[in-house]
Amino acid sequence: MRNLTLNDGNNIPIVGFGTYKATEQDGIDSVKHALLNGYRLIDTAAVYGNEEAVGKGIKASGVSRDEIYVTTKLWRENLGYESAKEELEKSLKRLDLDYIDLYLIHWPANAKNYDKWQEANAESWKAMEELQAEGKIKSIGVSNFFEEHLDTLFKTANVKPALNQIEFHPGYWQKELVNYCKKQNIVVESWSPLARGKVFENEELKAIAKAHNTTVAKVCLRWVIQHDVIVIPKSTTEERIESNIKLFDFELSDEEMKQINELPEFGFSGEHPLFWPERVI
Ligand SMILES: NC(=O)c1ccc[n+]([C@@H]2O[C@H](COP(=O)([O-])OP(=O)(O)OC[C@H]3O[C@@H](n4cnc5c(N)ncnc54)[C@H](OP(=O)(O)O)[C@@H]3O)[C@@H](O)[C@H]2O)c1
Repeated sequence: MRNLTLNDGNNIPIVGFGTYKATEQDGIDSVKHALLNGYRLIDTAAVYGNEEAVGKGIKASGVSRDEIYVTTKLWRENLGYESAKEELEKSLKRLDLDYIDLYLIHWPANAKNYDKWQEANAESWKAMEELQAEGKIKSIGVSNFFEEHLDTLFKTANVKPALNQIEFHPGYWQKELVNYCKKQNIVVESWSPLARGKVFENEELKAIAKAHNTTVAKVCLRWVIQHDVIVIPKSTTEERIESNIKLFDFELSDEEMKQINELPEFGFSGEHPLFWPERVI
């Protein structure tokens, strides 16, 4: 598996496994199946309610802990210095792990929900820096941060975020934000690379898939990694789990990359860092 190197020197696989909505037995079975089929990066979050299942899936796979890269996230309603520390301990306990490879602020505090949103992010970050220094977290990063959130965080941070996990799929890939992150040496990770299924009816994607004798899913996932962006598709279907990691047997041409880049906007989730908990569509 190809890795990317983060700005703190740690490596992260370019293809991983998403677990949103994979709970209970589905969570255990899908994580185990993913690990047995070559995935080494598992993405979960406190708010998914499946950290216990993910931990059990990891154990059931028999793959050793040091070969697996585990990401979890601090929920947006629990931001703050003390709270970040407490929440990390709870995640470790639920996952039954001694450390997390990558801990993310799941969504930035916003002005609607925090009187001092800048402080809420900064204080959470300070706690995460300390947890990283203690060895409980290997790398620290953010999710759904716009440029304004990153710039504000830079003012107080001692450690630069290693990664920003954002909505990124054909039809909605936040090009300017991606360019800004790359300029700052912050790796980008894509969430909802299949737009939770909304990519499948797109005729241009279907034509590209046909030309490569592959599926629309694989075209989308391949397009993500050809941007040097990490991809974490979710599936609880065994054959899809197996197929979604086989992305290295074809390549999209520059022309095809451009064509997908330029697709008109579609598939946006409606989840927006400045407006949560409301959606914008
Ligand atoms: N940081 C954030 O705010 C944030 C937000 C959203 C997601 N995420 C992370 O990103 C991961 C991926 O995003 P997501 O789960 O929202 O959406 P996604 O990966 O774009 O789509 C998942 C959906 O696509 C289906 N699917 C997967 N592979 C397929 C294939 N080869 N062919 C046809 N259908 C396929 C799955 O169905 P089955 O499961 O039934 O196979 C599931 O319904 C999440 O699981 C989570 O870990 C993070």
